[in-house]
Amino acid sequence: MSNFNEERVVSVHHWTDTLFSFKTTRNPTFRFKNGQFTMIGIPVDGKPLLRAYSVVSPNYEDGLEFFSIKVQNGPLTSRLQHLKEGDPVIVGRKATGTLVLDNLKSGRNLYLLGTGTGLAPFLSLIRDPETYERFEKVVLLHGCRQVAELAYGEMITQELPQDEFLGEEIRGKLIYYPTVTREPFRNRGRITDLIVSNKLGEDIGLPPLSVEHDRVMLCGSPLMLADLKVILEERGFVEGNHGEPGDYVIEKAFVEK
Ligand code: A2P
Repeated sequence: MSNFNEERVVSVHHWTDTLFSFKTTRNPTFRFKNGQFTMIGIPVDGKPLLRAYSVVSPNYEDGLEFFSIKVQNGPLTSRLQHLKEGDPVIVGRKATGTLVLDNLKSGRNLYLLGTGTGLAPFLSLIRDPETYERFEKVVLLHGCRQVAELAYGEMITQELPQDEFLGEEIRGKLIYYPTVTREPFRNRGRITDLIVSNKLGEDIGLPPLSVEHDRVMLCGSPLMLADLKVILEERGFVEGNHGEPGDYVIEKAFVEK
């Protein structure tokens, strides 16, 4: 049996000239946990060209959604960015990844820290009812260079609070904190600096990040992950994985090219 399903593009949304999202059909046999990724791609010269992509859509939805960069000379994304409704896309039959709730110990607040397309896995997690069963507050930080790169902001602030099933939990528990580093915006600065200076805590009205109460998921650029790992471990946070739930978990944002 093939390791892949062939899906069809249902819609495409271009955020900027370097970022886009697309929705596809979903084979009903494809199962995943919110926060996981799978391999996706297209046939090139008769062979599948694949990259790891986190699933943006929650696992109870009929379709799938993905969030991607566009790199002009990138082997996959230079092609993927031209996807149109009805085009075929190859999607792996298996999903995997460390950014799942089972890999975290219980705690009071869940911090989801993402840069760029590292937001993707958190978009499914903030639509998972279990996230709100397990945590009192869910703080989603999205760090980008420019305001236009803050994709999904409107969905998070306008649509999710009105959601028929999760709206009440989201209104009471989800704190969305977009931040921009290279142009004016209401929140400025790198995620790392906002945590170290505790500007974040002051802005959202929560105490400084501590291993006693907080659990953290990280996804984004490798340098950001490396810096945050140091900051968290200095505060006693222990990394979790499939064998052993911990205080924080990490995944790099894939889709480099
Ligand atoms: P900055 O503009 O100061 O480099 P990129 O587009 O390079 O992936 O970056 C996405 C966001 O992540 C940018 O806001 C960038 O800030 C930030 N960033 C890059 N490196 C780090 C790091 N080591 N720690 C925290 N944030 C970072």
